[in-house]
Amino acid sequence: MAEVTLLINDLAAAVTPAGTGPLRGREFGALRVHSPASIAVASDRIFAVGSPAKILREIPSGKDYESVDGRGKVALPGLVDCHTHPSFLGDRAAEFGLRSSGATYEEIHASGGGIRSTVAATRAGSEGDLRSSVERHLGWMLEHGTTTAEAKSGYGLDRETELKSLRAIQDAGRRSPVDVYPTFLGAHTVPPEFDSAAEYVEFVIHEVLPEAAPLARFADVFLERGSFEAPEARRYLEACREYGLALRLHADQFSERGAIPLALELGARSVDHLEATKDEAALLLTQSDVAAVLLPACGLFLDLPLPPARLLADEGAIMALATDFNPGSSFCESLPLVMNLACTRLGLSPTEALCACTANAAHVIGADDVGRLAPGYRADVLLLDAPDWRHLAYHLGGDRFAARIKSGRLL
Ligand code: NIG
Ligand code: FE
Repeated sequence: MAEVTLLINDLAAAVTPAGTGPLRGREFGALRVHSPASIAVASDRIFAVGSPAKILREIPSGKDYESVDGRGKVALPGLVDCHTHPSFLGDRAAEFGLRSSGATYEEIHASGGGIRSTVAATRAGSEGDLRSSVERHLGWMLEHGTTTAEAKSGYGLDRETELKSLRAIQDAGRRSPVDVYPTFLGAHTVPPEFDSAAEYVEFVIHEVLPEAAPLARFADVFLERGSFEAPEARRYLEACREYGLALRLHADQFSERGAIPLALELGARSVDHLEATKDEAALLLTQSDVAAVLLPACGLFLDLPLPPARLLADEGAIMALATDFNPGSSFCESLPLVMNLACTRLGLSPTEALCACTANAAHVIGADDVGRLAPGYRADVLLLDAPDWRHLAYHLGGDRFAARIKSGRLL
């Protein structure tokens, strides 16, 4: 029998997505609630979850393990942020000021600012600066309950800085308690030294991808007017797939231009944003295994139209939520805030929002051992200091954790 190393005792409840794998259709939002509950942890894994009496019977007596008093607390799985851009230097506070007086995100981008201004700041720094920046951002996420995060490059857009960025993501992930899943976003936008998107994509495929691919698990592209159209996105994604990377797309953020059909055709893991997706493409998605990742903090930050969240959920799409943490369109690292927005603006229920930030987000990044409180899963546990687990979404910006446990270790 595995040796129990940590016991979380006498919780008001332990709440977890039910089942295994992604939850969709009628199962989306299905929870398993143990109340009252204790959780036994063996090393970095959950050993058992259940009633306190049952757990005490199951674990060997007289052994030396650490105990955590769970009275009055609710345990939840550590949150999974499946779409973030933490590898950047500088900020866009001045741009935020311009937007507050009427300039739009797309106008700023078209005039050479936006993503390109973060690219200039990121290129000017060292690899150590970038590592510190990613580590700092992961620390912010952890404060809000994120224990696993995807992290994109995409603010280098030259060989040296893209590789620096991916190494910074890996190094920061090793130093931080947060587990990190790196994504090569080599096709974020066209940098100023290139005249055409097609020319830049050839450069990325030949000069950057061969060295970037071993440092990443996923490839991502911003398919949007002013960045890459479908033919260039296809060329980039097909080349990335050849290198074994799973595919993701920034899709339909401002305009619908073929991202969903392309994602389906290429067997992508997800399409993310979908603020401009119309019903026809949304319905295609619901019939597929390509996940819909909604980013309501970005929608709020840029005042975008709402994505067809209810249609996607009701018709059976695999749905996840994420922060889209980045300096320009979503300077927000809080998944509890995202859950609140999903409930208040997108029509999701708290149970759906929880599934979307745990089990379903874990599915998107292929992190199959996180996102649930069940035997064998990684022991990533949040103790919420509230009488009802729904406070996580309900208390706007007020996530209060009594403890965070990552891989069986009390932080
Ligand atoms: O997901 N839309 C493209 N990429 C990011 C924004 C990047 C930026 O503005 O710096 C997004 O919104
Ligand atoms: Fe993004």
